[in-house]
Amino acid sequence: MKATADRHVPVLLQRCTELLGTAARGLIVDATVGMGGHTEALLRAYPGCAVVGIDRDPRALELASERLAPFGERFHPFHGTYDEIAHAAAEADGVLMDLGVSSMQLDEQERGFSYAADAPLDMRMDTSTGTSAAELLNTASAAELRRILYRYGEERFAPRIADRIVRQREQAPLTRTSELAEIVRESIPAPARRTGGNPAKRTFQAIRIAVNDELGILERAIPAALGILRPGGRIVVMAYQSLEDRIVKHEFARVTTSTTPHGLPVELDQPEFSLLTRGAERASEDEIATNPRAASVRLRAVERRI
Ligand SMILES: C[S@@+](CC[C@H](N)C(=O)[O-])C[C@H]1O[C@@H](n2cnc3c(N)ncnc32)[C@H](O)[C@@H]1O
Repeated sequence: MKATADRHVPVLLQRCTELLGTAARGLIVDATVGMGGHTEALLRAYPGCAVVGIDRDPRALELASERLAPFGERFHPFHGTYDEIAHAAAEADGVLMDLGVSSMQLDEQERGFSYAADAPLDMRMDTSTGTSAAELLNTASAAELRRILYRYGEERFAPRIADRIVRQREQAPLTRTSELAEIVRESIPAPARRTGGNPAKRTFQAIRIAVNDELGILERAIPAALGILRPGGRIVVMAYQSLEDRIVKHEFARVTTSTTPHGLPVELDQPEFSLLTRGAERASEDEIATNPRAASVRLRAVERRI
């Protein structure tokens, strides 16, 4: 068994630590504590800070708590989803969100996140609650499945895949990741199968997003996280796919833009937040070479002015 620190390599670690330096003597909420990599770096870099670490995955929280035990009272775990951030901390000087699944979740094959290994179709980040991928695939209508595959996987063969899922489950309910991967393979025309990596990737992403209501929770979480920041407080968000990044980008644009019409000599309302990043920041070639997960990261950050 790998040590916790080796099960997930934190992305843009230096940059996140630097951006959250303004919270060096305050409270930081790591809303996706995972294996605790970013949190450990923050606790080490800023001996005057404390961190509340949120994760919906009890297993991640258990491993992070063990890893961070040497920091004693400076680390507090909180089990829940990040839209519940105001229950974890009423106010904070910094918030970090490193979205998506961790390498640990992908590596634990029995959790069903990976199309590369045969396992039960679960895909819940919190296995103590909610609906599994198998329940979703065996009960959703063809129209609902099409919508999930289009919206969350941007899958152009969504109708064919959805129809095949429905036909196959009429014979016997789907239970294994290998069955879903095979359905996708058979639904996609041969020429399309030869390009763009494993064709099951988009379908697995889509089902995972639906099972965990990832976008709905993120849409609620960003305003909630902005809401707990004290003046001067900062939020740093790292997204790994365009659907999530779009939500972050729009919400940050909304709170950093003045609503005063152009052309007026004075600003009637000062935006509450200012942008700390121009566009989205990406990882360096060097980081991507040692940590392929960093290839798709987009980091955005804002600071509360008032
Ligand atoms: C990319 S990992 C974070 C890794 C962490 N930064 C580290 O250095 O170890 C994302 C984590 O967020 C958690 N997560 C995903 N969606 C969540 C949500 N809606 N609420 C709370 N935690 C969530 C996952 O369970 C996972 O452990």
